Amino acid sequence: MDKFVITGGKPLAGRITISGAKNATLAIMPATLLAGGVYHLTNTPNLRDVWTLSRLLGSMGVHAELNDTDLFVDTSNITSYEAPYEHVKKMRASFHVLGPLLARYGEAKVSLPGGCAWGPRPVDLHLKGLEKLGAQIDLEAGYVIARAPEGGLRGARIHFDISSVGATENVMMAAVLAKGSTTLSNAAVEPEVTALARMLVNMGAKIEGIGTTTLEIEGVPELKTVNEETIPDRIEAGTFLIGAAMTRGKITLDKTNPYHLAAVIAKLEESGCEVDVNGDSITLTMETAPKPTDITTSPYPGFPTDLQAQWMAYMLMADGTSSITDTIYTDRFKHVPELLRLGADVEMAENTAIIKGGKKLSGATVMSTDLRASASLILAALVAEGRSEILRVYHLDRGYEAIEKRLGALGAQIRRERTEEF
Ligand code: EPZ
Repeated sequence: MDKFVITGGKPLAGRITISGAKNATLAIMPATLLAGGVYHLTNTPNLRDVWTLSRLLGSMGVHAELNDTDLFVDTSNITSYEAPYEHVKKMRASFHVLGPLLARYGEAKVSLPGGCAWGPRPVDLHLKGLEKLGAQIDLEAGYVIARAPEGGLRGARIHFDISSVGATENVMMAAVLAKGSTTLSNAAVEPEVTALARMLVNMGAKIEGIGTTTLEIEGVPELKTVNEETIPDRIEAGTFLIGAAMTRGKITLDKTNPYHLAAVIAKLEESGCEVDVNGDSITLTMETAPKPTDITTSPYPGFPTDLQAQWMAYMLMADGTSSITDTIYTDRFKHVPELLRLGADVEMAENTAIIKGGKKLSGATVMSTDLRASASLILAALVAEGRSEILRVYHLDRGYEAIEKRLGALGAQIRRERTEEF
């Protein structure tokens, strides 16, 4: 197990290039199951989660190879329609193979997901959508056993009770090969969903309404392979912007999509940052303590839940009290007890955190619990006085490529150490 050792007090300053979006890659990789052949997916991030999904696809006969940011996927020879628990338990996004397998091969056996530790992570919207397309869904010993009807899946009108990124992606990937028309209403519109829809259209799918909450899909008999460039990672970009803001630094990010960060940039400016956007580059400058700035997370284009924990670390620096409400997850505040160990003053009231900023933070040893909570601990350690140790950094490696190297290049005093600590 690795840990990070951080000495706080250094501002983040300099220029870095943002990686491809983890959550786009974890949607477009399963889509390669929809057409047999070789795909070249560029700007792919080199992350633990990408390796995990590559191994899962490998167990199905897919050959996936990542050379730097070039991911080559060969789905010419699928040998299994099963996603075993040993892979799916490591990463919820493995569940995205269900829709494509069902659509292309008429059957699938996929373990119910594990994923992050916080809160219940149901998949009822995925399953209801696939049943509307005619699938027979059985649950046996922790597995979803899915079968398409004779003649294959059939188009349907599907309404999602709540906006779900994964359910929209899974059901959309099934519908593109279903016979007839499918309407998805209350579909998620996150950039990663739009990127998947665009890739499916490039593969020959017929999808109207891309980028809106209503997708009209006309099924086609087959699709073809494509080469795709992965969109920039808006959550990685937002994490670095918040890091620069809370350390009173100056940072420029290249290869971003500023449009995907409109809500975050607006809140950063509201808190007192100077933000300049120039093409695909974003420059942030911050010279003072931030103003207390409340956020409430919501589906895109609202403030993303995946930056909620990082924003909390930032508000610890504010000269006043702020609040954070997460409307997406019922229990995504596992970072709070760890931030308290650094001297933070945060109280929970239901799904809202009340942050009393301005308290001096002092270095301590803290435990990562999930991907974005770990990021908030790193950010807080960057401003805490003295030495902090962040344990179980494998959580971070899931979603941030060599984060210690990139933060170090921006002036942070951070190093990775191997530890026996579990
Ligand atoms: C995606 O997860 C992202 N992961 C998450 O990012 C992100 O937090 C989430 O969307 C919300 O934006 C990937 O794209 C791989 P949802 P997903 O279905 O698809 C409930 C990260 O840090 N729900 O949009 O699993 C669910 O419990 C990760 O990169 C149901 O009730 O999220 C949640 O409350 C963490 N039934 C809400 O919907 C379902 O069938 C939104 O979840 C599905 C979801």
